[in-house]
Amino acid sequence: MDVHKAIETRRALRSLAPAEIDGDLVRDLASHARLAPSCFNNQPWRFVFVSDPARLEAMKPVFNSGNQWCHAASLMIAVFSRKEDDCVIKERAYHRFDTGMAVAFLILRATEMGLVAHPIAGYSPAKTREVLGIPDDCDVITVILVGRQAAEPDPTLSPEKLEAETRRPERLPLEQFAFRDRYGG
Ligand SMILES: Cc1cc2nc3c(=O)[nH]c(=O)nc-3n(C[C@H](O)[C@H](O)[C@H](O)COP(=O)(O)O)c2cc1C
Repeated sequence: MDVHKAIETRRALRSLAPAEIDGDLVRDLASHARLAPSCFNNQPWRFVFVSDPARLEAMKPVFNSGNQWCHAASLMIAVFSRKEDDCVIKERAYHRFDTGMAVAFLILRATEMGLVAHPIAGYSPAKTREVLGIPDDCDVITVILVGRQAAEPDPTLSPEKLEAETRRPERLPLEQFAFRDRYGG
């Protein structure tokens, strides 16, 4: 799969069926995240890959009530970084930006492997830290839910999220966010 195809194929699907998760898969995903660019090559991203059934169960209270579909994931990836581990140039702290790029690489690789890899914001960072032993000074930026696309829709989904399973949510027209030669907002 080329980059264009992976970008086009990737979807934040929510109806998840089990996927086989082993050490090779985890290493593969981490290896692709590893090659992302970062400020001064600081590589601030950190990941905890959770696939042990008991640990997946322990993660369930972490998710907001609207995100019950997350419970069906075969792999949950907690993503975090520390401001101190990357460039801070006056008001610009780059750890979240650099970690986001690593996450994008990981998600595209998962897509190429035929997996759904869905990042979310609807979780408790404090509970995630507690369950996974992540230090308090780390920003828990997202949790990525990984599985296979299920044949049947998840019954907990709202009508809006159900529709998004088959139709990609609308994007802004290019003219609203991409400008040539001068900002034209
Ligand atoms: C930072 C971030 C947070 C998100 N949080 C949630 C979430 O809490 N629950 C959820 O169901 N989807 C969540 N999503 C998925 C988005 O709703 C989804 O990416 C968007 O609607 C576009 O759909 P698409 O990715 O399938 O093209 C999140 C995505 C991102 C990047």
